[in-house]
Amino acid sequence: MNICILGMQWGDEGKGKITDIISKDSDITVRFCGGANAGHTIYKGGEKIVAHILPSSILNNKVCVLGNSMVIHFPSLIKEINHLRSAWGIDIELYISDKAHVVLDVYKELDKIIDKTNKIGTTHKGIGPAYTFKSKRIGIQTGYLDKPNILYKSLNQINQDLKLYSLCIDIEKSMEYFGQISRMFNICDITEILSKSNNIVIEGSQGVMLDIDNGTYPYVTSCNTGISGAIAGTGLSHKKIDRIIGVVKSYTTRVGNGPFPTEIFSEIANNIREKGAEYGATTGRPRRIGWLDLDQVKKCVYSNGVDIINLTKLDVLSDIQPIKIKINDRYRSLDGFPGISSITEFKELPKNAVKCIQAIEDYLKIPIKYIGTGVDTTIFR
Ligand code: IMO
Ligand code: MG
Repeated sequence: MNICILGMQWGDEGKGKITDIISKDSDITVRFCGGANAGHTIYKGGEKIVAHILPSSILNNKVCVLGNSMVIHFPSLIKEINHLRSAWGIDIELYISDKAHVVLDVYKELDKIIDKTNKIGTTHKGIGPAYTFKSKRIGIQTGYLDKPNILYKSLNQINQDLKLYSLCIDIEKSMEYFGQISRMFNICDITEILSKSNNIVIEGSQGVMLDIDNGTYPYVTSCNTGISGAIAGTGLSHKKIDRIIGVVKSYTTRVGNGPFPTEIFSEIANNIREKGAEYGATTGRPRRIGWLDLDQVKKCVYSNGVDIINLTKLDVLSDIQPIKIKINDRYRSLDGFPGISSITEFKELPKNAVKCIQAIEDYLKIPIKYIGTGVDTTIFR
């Protein structure tokens, strides 16, 4: 079964953990969009690993694929791979789409400069500039890294644009570096690899509310983070996606600027932030905190054709009294459910936790199949 995992909020819903779980039974995991702006946290024997560019299946010895719509900063990718090898003894089998795009070092500078006036609060990882050059059709597609003439032309055109910002690339050095990169990695047409299996995990990054077309524009990332991005970014037909898992955190967080209807600023927000370790896995920024907004989630579930829900971090809310959920533009207060941390059986959950889960299911009208109750505990229903 091919399973797609998508974030239903503004990112950081817990996509890494469920990808790690689901990919244990799959052949291949493919990331389809974004790049080092993502921070997917997984745990191995209680120790934390953050996947930025690589898929979150890295612990499971599965084939890893970086999809068509990804934007890749190669020095960061190399660092991630080397760290996996030296700290964990893991060597991954990696394929990179020849249609992915390159993030140059200088894009990070450019991202910072543009964000100073734009005030989106980006991750400064060069994501916006990479997609901008891609749309202008002067970007560097990975499939051309071994084609010096085409690469040279792109680098020159990009340099012309960079002049506006008093930035520039060293073209000779870049040519040499990317020549090496093209020999170092398996850069290929990923359709061939993906067509060999019907047991693929497609891992989303960011959340649907950060989708450039369906999110809270302009406070979004620069690509399609929802199901449309999964199709474009893997080259798989929509008919090949058998199940879509929507990942929903039991409350809402957001990093960066932009609208956030259920945001809270009280002591409760601080408690949730500390208990849920709500600090950016990529930038370390404290995340903004708010109640679960089921009106927002419902729209995302509908427009992405979500089949089942993974409700994450329910234990983080366990000491809060009352818990609030926005349903039909009103807040519903629910009784708290202390002591659910690390529970792995649904039948062991206290009544109030079950009530909360059922209230969410009743409104979304799809089943909640996985419930997160701790960094490495999940209830399977
Ligand atoms: P994961 O995959 C949360 C946010 C940034 C900023 C906006 C644009 O870990 O869920 P960008 O650098 O992409 O141009 O920034 O998008 N953002 C994320 N927020 N989780 C992420 O990824 C994010 N990736 C980007 O904070 O508001
Ligand atoms: Mg994250």
